[in-house]
Amino acid sequence: MATIFSGIQPSGIITLGNYLGAMKQFVELQDDYNCYFCIVNQHAITVPQDPSTLRENSRRLAALYLAVGLDPSKITLFIQSEVPAHAKLGWIMMCTAYLGELERMTQFKDKAQGRGEAIPGGLLVYPPLMAADILLYNTNLVPVGDDQKQHLELTRDLAERFNKRYGEVFTIPEIRVPKVGARIMSLQDPGKKMSKSDPNPGGFISMLDDEKTIVQKVKRAQTDSDNQIHYNPEEKPAISNLLSIYSLCSGKSIDELEQQYQGVGYGQFKSDLAEAILQTMRPIQQRFNELYHSSALDDILDQGAEKANSVANQTLQKVEQAMGMARSR
Ligand code: TYM
Repeated sequence: MATIFSGIQPSGIITLGNYLGAMKQFVELQDDYNCYFCIVNQHAITVPQDPSTLRENSRRLAALYLAVGLDPSKITLFIQSEVPAHAKLGWIMMCTAYLGELERMTQFKDKAQGRGEAIPGGLLVYPPLMAADILLYNTNLVPVGDDQKQHLELTRDLAERFNKRYGEVFTIPEIRVPKVGARIMSLQDPGKKMSKSDPNPGGFISMLDDEKTIVQKVKRAQTDSDNQIHYNPEEKPAISNLLSIYSLCSGKSIDELEQQYQGVGYGQFKSDLAEAILQTMRPIQQRFNELYHSSALDDILDQGAEKANSVANQTLQKVEQAMGMARSR
């Protein structure tokens, strides 16, 4: 069975964008792959985090991973910092990467902007840590949203560079981006991706927003200037984004939705869209509430860390052996 690895940062409460771009794929893939899903708290601390908020958000994310339908008897769910091999291989991948290629990462450039001299070093070396996450599990496939493409290309380059230097240690992973939903945009600015760190909460729907808030955010979402419900991301980015969300939440194709809303106004469209989102979220939020305070969640994370440690340590040993860092006796 081929292996999947993916991670989500507990840097806020995850959004509908994270769900539609990433988690929904995870659920669809769990039966056919050996899956590792990670709460990447070491990535989250590349920018300052309040300790109690980080702890809470990590637990929320763990509960949400399960609430969306991932089955702990099929997949391995764990917290990154509970598997020390990530930081260890992360260091090795940092030594494999070149400064120029790290500085070229668009996410680094975006996140470094406006920080003057105070750019945390972790922001620069974020992608080699991400490479380590993936490579530790001999991963074949990485399901992610569109914004992670560049990091995945770098992961492949670093793995190939390492293999050339030290022998065939790493499996070279492939990326998997969904056809619809790879880049869900902000509800307030369709030129920007929906993000959990957006200072304007109207731009994103959080997976834990209550019903009233979701309805309000959809009602206030930007639309395009004409009155037609038609999919054209270049000319009608706002409605196209809403159509993608609607399609993914309802299971109806974009063509079907265009037909259904011919001659119908934005008001009706938005109120039906809000209902489709609510129907997706209700069962997830209900399962979340059952899981969040349960000790079962801790047991699942303990078992996940145990399994992840055992696989990751084997890869790390191979790496250290190949590099001459393991003592020979
Ligand atoms: P993060 O936490 O920003 O996002 C988690 C996942 O959600 C996807 N995503 C989106 N998809 C569609 N539309 C959006 N608006 C949207 N926003 C986010 C992301 O593409 C991602 O799949 N660097 C990663 C975390 C990470 C990781 C890894 C991922 C660390 N190590 C190893 C894969 C493999 C990140 O910051 O994701």
